[in-house]
Amino acid sequence: MARDERVVNHGHGGHARARYSLGPVSEARRNVELKAVDPDPGRTLERAQELGAEDRGVIAQRDTYFRVREGRLKLREEEPGEAHLIAYARPDAAEVRVSSYRVVPVPDPAGMIAALGETNGIDVVVAKRRRLLLWENVRIHLDEVEGLGSFVELEAVAEPESDLYRERAQVDHLIAELYIGAPLEGSYSDLLRANQGAKADPELLRMAREAAARAYAPYSNFPVGAAVRTEDGRRYAGANVENAAYPQGQCAEASAIGAMVAGGGGRVVEVVVAAPSAEECAPCGGCRQRLREFAGPDAPIHLADLERVRRTTSLAELLPLSFGPESLG
Ligand code: THU
Repeated sequence: MARDERVVNHGHGGHARARYSLGPVSEARRNVELKAVDPDPGRTLERAQELGAEDRGVIAQRDTYFRVREGRLKLREEEPGEAHLIAYARPDAAEVRVSSYRVVPVPDPAGMIAALGETNGIDVVVAKRRRLLLWENVRIHLDEVEGLGSFVELEAVAEPESDLYRERAQVDHLIAELYIGAPLEGSYSDLLRANQGAKADPELLRMAREAAARAYAPYSNFPVGAAVRTEDGRRYAGANVENAAYPQGQCAEASAIGAMVAGGGGRVVEVVVAAPSAEECAPCGGCRQRLREFAGPDAPIHLADLERVRRTTSLAELLPLSFGPESLG
């Protein structure tokens, strides 16, 4: 077969042009899909099984992402399983989205990594343990990703002629039934790359993200997670906890500081505040003062969304001319 050039329809406001020239290509397929932080994979597994999802067990996967001009290209090695080259294009959007992809069997994965790595370059490697569940035509992935934490993914695999209405309805149904939180925008490779660039403690980021996914914020619908790291390397996380009597609500930073004090106290040397927000979530005035009690003026305070650090600041910047313990003399 001659080299094939096809246009992939994103199904997302017109035809974004992603041209793949991979030689003999496997048929393009489409998914309606979603990814979110999963703070409680045990509960998600239980809920999925209650819905009648079939448990296909755990697979170790290693994805090598290559640098490419358009879309994404990764070699997936599976244990148990075979290796495949996966080419895909999808809009980066924090919502349920449509992905178009091709999966091509690769009999010689090491050779393929060498060939593509030497010519295009390797971008990032993502290793994870995936529990695969099947519900109707939806794949439910419970993923433990090395260096990132726990996530849930839904992939409703579409029939070639589908208008995707049914697949979207299936994904919406599972979001509600499995208590899935705010969707993520990027892929695991994007998250890992963002972590590498951020110079924030990855474990602290993970803890803040997962605390945000556990927040109790039914009134504001604005979940926040915070995590603090102490001088001697301990880490504590907290979430905002709201209350029907609104003024009794507590910020995530206050909860994290409370956990730290209960865990032995200490000096705070790094802070992450994470919220699934389009804007940077900066600590409120009260929490700047709370942090002032335990952190020095230059301790990094990372303001993050669920995927990346958006800004790194400090108390010197957030709370100048401040009043602290030493002010009491
Ligand atoms: N919130 C925090 O937890 N931390 C902040 O730094 C800003 C605001 C919470 C409080 C409330 O539950 C919700 O966000 C909306 O204000």
